[in-house]
Amino acid sequence: MNFYIMTLFPEMVMDGLHTSIIGRAVNSGLLHIEAVNIRDYAFNKHNSVDDYPYGGGAGMLMQAEPVCQCYQALEERIGKKPRVVYLSPQGKTFHQGMAEEFAMEEDLVFLCGHYEGIDERVLEEIVTDYVSIGDYVLTGGELPAMIMVDAISRLVPGVLHNDVSAEFESFQDHLLEYPQYSRPEVWHEKRVPEVLLSGHHANIEKWRREQSVIRTAKNRPDLLAKAELTKAERELARK
Ligand code: ADE
Repeated sequence: MNFYIMTLFPEMVMDGLHTSIIGRAVNSGLLHIEAVNIRDYAFNKHNSVDDYPYGGGAGMLMQAEPVCQCYQALEERIGKKPRVVYLSPQGKTFHQGMAEEFAMEEDLVFLCGHYEGIDERVLEEIVTDYVSIGDYVLTGGELPAMIMVDAISRLVPGVLHNDVSAEFESFQDHLLEYPQYSRPEVWHEKRVPEVLLSGHHANIEKWRREQSVIRTAKNRPDLLAKAELTKAERELARK
């Protein structure tokens, strides 16, 4: 899968997305992640890409033309109109289902705004999806783009070595993940739950499912409305 991140700060994106699991997938050719510098498409001799907003107000806006030129060069390289995600607090809130949908694309372009945003006219022309990562305001779209690339990449087959591990985890079935333990059996006088040492797989599965329900009820009761629970599990969630 190919990710193109249009930004004024390419180093931010390149450093963050070429380490660990995502870095390994890039090295093995499963993923291509490229930061495209919007400043390379500046059209004046000062290389500036921002200007004051009409009507006044604080800060500067990214101008339409460099963004448009940058996008058009990308579209030409890709050979078709890709989906273009604009990161903004005004977008739809990102969630796992969205990550699954985007993971089906071959090419995905992210447009990162900085300063006070981008001239609306170019957004109207090129953006297909407006996405926010949550109800708070950041200084730019780079971190949100990196978050989305990470969440989408790990769903691309082969990126996680163990393909089942993308399945059994938080938000599967709208439940949070159960607690996990590794060696030693006793640490700071806390024992690993006995059932996990039993080797009894059915009991372990049952315990994990219950823990997921209890955890979700405690930390994210809003998720439970969508979860498919048995009568006994609903009871457990009410306690
Ligand atoms: N840019 C600034 N804040 C943002 C947010 N919360 N989500 C996506 N893009 C942003």
